[in-house]
Amino acid sequence: MDPTHPSDRLPDVVMPACPAEKILKGQKALVTGASSGIGRAVAITLGMAGADVVVNYHRKSEPAEEVVAEIRSEHGQAFSWAADVSDESQVQEMFQKMFAEFGTIDILVANAGLQQDAPFDQMTREQWQRVIDVNLTGQFLCAREAVREFKRRGVVPEVSCSAGKIICISSVHEIIPWAGHVNYAASKGGVMLMMKSIAQEVAGYRIRVNSIAPGAVRTPINAKAWQTPQAYSALMRLIPYNRIGEPDDIGRAAVWLASDYSDYITGISLVIDGGMTLYPGFETGG
Ligand code: BGC
Repeated sequence: MDPTHPSDRLPDVVMPACPAEKILKGQKALVTGASSGIGRAVAITLGMAGADVVVNYHRKSEPAEEVVAEIRSEHGQAFSWAADVSDESQVQEMFQKMFAEFGTIDILVANAGLQQDAPFDQMTREQWQRVIDVNLTGQFLCAREAVREFKRRGVVPEVSCSAGKIICISSVHEIIPWAGHVNYAASKGGVMLMMKSIAQEVAGYRIRVNSIAPGAVRTPINAKAWQTPQAYSALMRLIPYNRIGEPDDIGRAAVWLASDYSDYITGISLVIDGGMTLYPGFETGG
């Protein structure tokens, strides 16, 4: 705490209930890695906005079922589906199940991701490979299935102006190098150019492909960075807006990016980071 710093006198963030309007009504969404963290918030917020949602998870079914129950309580349809996004046949089976239940897909949020951190010279081939497989190849496999369906079906004007939307969940580490996390930063850098290249290739079909690049968001993946007061205040040195991100910060943006309100936007990374990428060290240095 620095009592002379203006943001240390600010109250905790209280977010308004959102979204009030069911702007995604009639749309079918798949969110990968939706049983916790950012994926959970995105799945629930899309459901609140009127979408029917497939809640993908990998291992534990119980938290995924809780997400499903929460979406159903908002009157949306939802079901959970276990699949490892790095496994081609499991991904294809998941899309087939979605088409059987919901008929099609309008929105893919490719969120499933993990960290396996290690100093570079101690990083094993397995740690490198697993992170690339899930964070990058997993997004490729899901995006490819979604694009196949978007192209087959085309635009349905009563549902959306576009033939489909893909939102890749990336990270500020698609821009910011990250010592001790070389596999993770490489995977997110890869997601950035994969997203832009797909966007360029499919724009003519009215398919929109974008990323959300979150900074530090309060989720289990980075618990060490915010759980103790010491860790939290060290983290705040990296965040000019002086609060950690909440999963709902990402959920709301995902609703907007999936909706026709952002219809002219494709190929961008929407950075949501409280200013982490503003190089806060330069506030007083340089
Ligand atoms: C990582 C978090 C980290 C954040 C900001 C995210 O992509 O998963 O562990 O706190 O970037 O550094």
